[in-house]
Amino acid sequence: MKIGSLDIDRPVILAPMEDVTDRAFRQLCKRHGADIVYTEFVSAEALRRGVEKTTRKLIADPVERPIAVQIFGSTVESMTEAARIAESFEPDYLDINFGCPTKKVAGKGAGAALLKEPEKMAAITEAVVRAVNIPVTAKTRLGWDRDSINIIDVLRRLEDAGIQALALHGRTRSEMYKGRADWDWIAEAVRHASIPVIANGDVWSPEDALQMFNHTGAEGIMIGRGAIGNPFIFSGTRHLLKTGNLPSLPDFRDRIEAALEHLELSVQFKGERYGTLEMRRHYSTYLKGLPKVSVVRNKLVREESPEQVASILLDYREECEGYRREGKIGEYAEYLNDHSEKLVLNYKATSKHI
Ligand SMILES: Cc1cc2nc3c(=O)[nH]c(=O)nc-3n(C[C@H](O)[C@H](O)[C@H](O)COP(=O)(O)O)c2cc1C
Repeated sequence: MKIGSLDIDRPVILAPMEDVTDRAFRQLCKRHGADIVYTEFVSAEALRRGVEKTTRKLIADPVERPIAVQIFGSTVESMTEAARIAESFEPDYLDINFGCPTKKVAGKGAGAALLKEPEKMAAITEAVVRAVNIPVTAKTRLGWDRDSINIIDVLRRLEDAGIQALALHGRTRSEMYKGRADWDWIAEAVRHASIPVIANGDVWSPEDALQMFNHTGAEGIMIGRGAIGNPFIFSGTRHLLKTGNLPSLPDFRDRIEAALEHLELSVQFKGERYGTLEMRRHYSTYLKGLPKVSVVRNKLVREESPEQVASILLDYREECEGYRREGKIGEYAEYLNDHSEKLVLNYKATSKHI
């Protein structure tokens, strides 16, 4: 798949996720094999006003490359100005969000709301493409609702406006995150596209990833919720794509190790206190399905020092060794089956998007 000077065969990409794909999580996914990572979406208006918290979202480290910055907004003026600011942070490319269904974005005429105004969507895109010297891509959904699926028209307009790739989540705005993503519509878009399409929606395992490539014919795929608490999905998918063999499944040691790595990165970028507090919402995803997990979770969410948290996790790893010897630890597959909507709906950040 080519975007500007990037050329990656069948890239497996970390999806942009607000409150999730910060520097720590991006770097974790990168270590575990993500080919490209995206920032959380960044408000064009806030960037333009110089809101510090927003501007900080543009900071990335060289190890994260290739990285895309994603911006959202509803006017040509704010989006072109934000695009130039984002470009000054030197991402590999710039992505425009035309898919966010939430009230705080779509309710203000940005994100998925622009699916109802394809001309304005094209005008914004064209202006952003002209405003910067880096490649511009877009991420969107199939349409506003099932009765108004307009992705083929939108694709053509965005191609004409100069985007270099389109990430497509196989749901409409009205569907939010309900049901299953419609991979048939993604395949249809791929058939009509003259630019790379990145397929997105409901990849929960390396097998799903391979199936998505095969089913849609997309040049790249993008994984969101399936990577939360499960960065192994990237290395596993790479292994499957390369060898045709299923990857070995991460066990409790790998999962606890990933939680520790995540904690370390979180503290590195957010400081001891905030970095540790921020991690609280992640433990249940890393430890899901392990024996007596609620006891350890309760301990973890009371701690404020990273050393204490790390020591609880290491003790728990020892405890799990004991459970393993007694045959009380289930197969990873059980965890994976559980790692679906139920788990994700529990995820604090997700609730804002549903
Ligand atoms: C917590 C959360 C935050 C999200 N934030 C963004 C975002 O900032 N920008 C965006 O384009 N999509 C966002 N999405 C949508 C995802 O990028 C992705 O399109 C969607 O989750 C479907 O893919 P999945 O089934 O692999 O999760 C978010 C999704 C979730 C669950």
